[in-house]
Amino acid sequence: MDKHWWKEAVVYQIYPRSFMDSDGDGIGDLNGITQRLPYLRELGIDVIWLSPVYQSPNDDNGYDISDYRAIMADFGTMEDFDRMLARAHELGLRIVMDLVVNHTSDEHRWFVESRKGKDSPYRDWYIWRPGKPDGSAPNNWGSAFSGSAWKYDEATDEWFLHLFSPKQPDLNWDNPKVRDAVFDMMDWWCQKGIDGFRMDVISLISKPEGLPDGVPGETGYAPSGCANGPHVHEYLQEMNRRVLSRYDLITVGEASGVTLEEAAKYANAQGTELNMVFQFEHVGEGAGIPGRFGKWDAPKMPLPMWKAILSKWQVGLQDRAWNSLYLSNHDQPRCLSKFGDDSEEYRVLSAKMLGTCTHMMQGTPYVYQGEELGMTNAYFDDVSDYRDIESINAYNDLTKNHGVPHDEMMGYLKRISRDNARTPMQWDGSANAGFTTGTPWIRVNPNYTSINAEAELGDPDSVFSYYQKLIRLRHENDIVVYGDYELLLPDDEDLFVYRRTLDDRQLVVICNFSRKTLQRPEALKAAIPEDAEVFIGNYAEDDRENVRPWEAVVYEIRNSEFGIRN
Ligand code: GLC
Repeated sequence: MDKHWWKEAVVYQIYPRSFMDSDGDGIGDLNGITQRLPYLRELGIDVIWLSPVYQSPNDDNGYDISDYRAIMADFGTMEDFDRMLARAHELGLRIVMDLVVNHTSDEHRWFVESRKGKDSPYRDWYIWRPGKPDGSAPNNWGSAFSGSAWKYDEATDEWFLHLFSPKQPDLNWDNPKVRDAVFDMMDWWCQKGIDGFRMDVISLISKPEGLPDGVPGETGYAPSGCANGPHVHEYLQEMNRRVLSRYDLITVGEASGVTLEEAAKYANAQGTELNMVFQFEHVGEGAGIPGRFGKWDAPKMPLPMWKAILSKWQVGLQDRAWNSLYLSNHDQPRCLSKFGDDSEEYRVLSAKMLGTCTHMMQGTPYVYQGEELGMTNAYFDDVSDYRDIESINAYNDLTKNHGVPHDEMMGYLKRISRDNARTPMQWDGSANAGFTTGTPWIRVNPNYTSINAEAELGDPDSVFSYYQKLIRLRHENDIVVYGDYELLLPDDEDLFVYRRTLDDRQLVVICNFSRKTLQRPEALKAAIPEDAEVFIGNYAEDDRENVRPWEAVVYEIRNSEFGIRN
């Protein structure tokens, strides 16, 4: 397998609005990030992925960009950006920009021009269509943020496509001028010295020929046929030729609706497109069990199904492409609340267990801000505490149009809302968790008095210290990065056990996804020779007979006595 620095790196995602506020306006900013770079150095990560910091009217918190070459005033100035980048580089940290080019803001100059008339030179930069003869939208596609994916524009009696909010019109990638403009802009950032791109919903950029109706009655972009559309690989190869291949970058595509076969193309080992993609099956999209209301009421996946999905990706991309490893980001609830146990008793154990399960796999791990502290869902009780456009629209749509009672909907938001992960970073036990001296743009999770960076930094048993160790082990051991993966005990309903193998070394990773104390199955005991050593674990004492509540333990086995094969 080819070695690359980006395979050996650990990426940390910053959601700038909620990371650190340096000027007391209640909104995180670039100078705040610069202040906290030593914290990230201390954690040991290699790369920072910044959620969008470009100029934006903030309809979708920066994922609606009105100028790709300017910094959002809330976050600071281009000088602040340059200083942050330089300081990060001094500390050996690389910076990845969020590239949001499936759509722009409706306030972007290109769209403002496009909207002016059918003969505007920018008309064809977006996707405009006349309505159907009965006056309805050009097709039945739904927006990911509720309602139709089309907005009618009186000025020209046409509709424009927006797979997300109406303030996020989709660019027309079939127009070569759009591609030229995007590639120029990317080149401009590369010249500045940034180190890579995370590409927002990049799998959606190529729309199906003729824009046919999607699956009737279904909403969201998935049934529209936009995912992995007809020219997406062609366009990414062009991007790779014209920009990416000319720099030493890390690239990851957010690939909604991606399948294993498609991922093997996006992230192909020949390097003609991207380094890796984010797939969504294990967080519930696609292969998950759908609910009546999409993700909002989808039931939790049984562990055997979850293991099968992750294992399919591990084995399926081996030697062909490269995986990204993540449980959290700014679009997901806190992973600890979703997959672990955020009760007082098991929070720390289960946070470490989830970290182990993820970081011991093959791929590049992504840590979402606060995950390394074991931050939990915010569980806001009041709908007015929510800020996220997706949550607010879903609340309005489901309670008004689908008869979902208020209390039931609040339950969905508490479990699934993206705002759970967007509350301010918990730095210390002082007012507003040390995030701001002003009023935070979104409420701080009240548990900051006990869960915060200051409390964890010096504590050898903290989640933070454990993440430091996970990251160090990856940096020091090729087997963690490159070892082959094999699932053991596939049907076990509580234990996730897998093996990594590289040359004459093995790791056996055991994770208990329950509060139960379980006797080790014979097959598991047999996989671990007596002289195997504990590589990392979340209990102080080794117990070869049992797997304890939310336990994670990894054994290192050297030489050829590899125990049984299953
Ligand atoms: C991606 C982003 C999400 C955003 C959407 C539209 O999924 O991660 O936050 O709302 O794209 O840009």
